Amino acid sequence: MTAHRANATLAEDLRLLHQAAEMARGHAYAPYSGFEVGAALRASDGCVITAGNVENIVYGSTMCAERAAIFRAVAEGHTRFDAIAIAGPAGTISPCGACRQVLAEFLDPSTIIVFPLDSQLVTVRLSELLPHPFSPPPGS
Ligand code: THU
Repeated sequence: MTAHRANATLAEDLRLLHQAAEMARGHAYAPYSGFEVGAALRASDGCVITAGNVENIVYGSTMCAERAAIFRAVAEGHTRFDAIAIAGPAGTISPCGACRQVLAEFLDPSTIIVFPLDSQLVTVRLSELLPHPFSPPPGS
């Protein structure tokens, strides 16, 4: 396979993963903000695990779509991932700070994150979104 063909396949895979995130938006529970988000994680065995955000009347108990997807995936036995896509209302939706730190717990820094920026799908690495994740000093 040529590099060009491989890139085209990767782009198509990521587009499909983003479609799965769009579908997961349909399961978002966001009666308080009305801001529905979907996330789709691709595990290294090829499984796709999705979730929407789940809000709560106690607003601080709300769970973002990205963390809901990670927690669902880990609870189902997946711990290795090679991409995550996020979908939201038109515009920009990139993972919040808490989600970035939780993603960093399970995803390699080079893992691909797909999200809309000014309504255009962009692909970045986790290390670009969270360059210096918290990690305790050795021996602590
Ligand atoms: N939200 C997500 O699901 N993911 C993010 O990365 C940012 C925000 C949700 C939380 C809340 O339900 C709604 O969007 C508005 O903040």
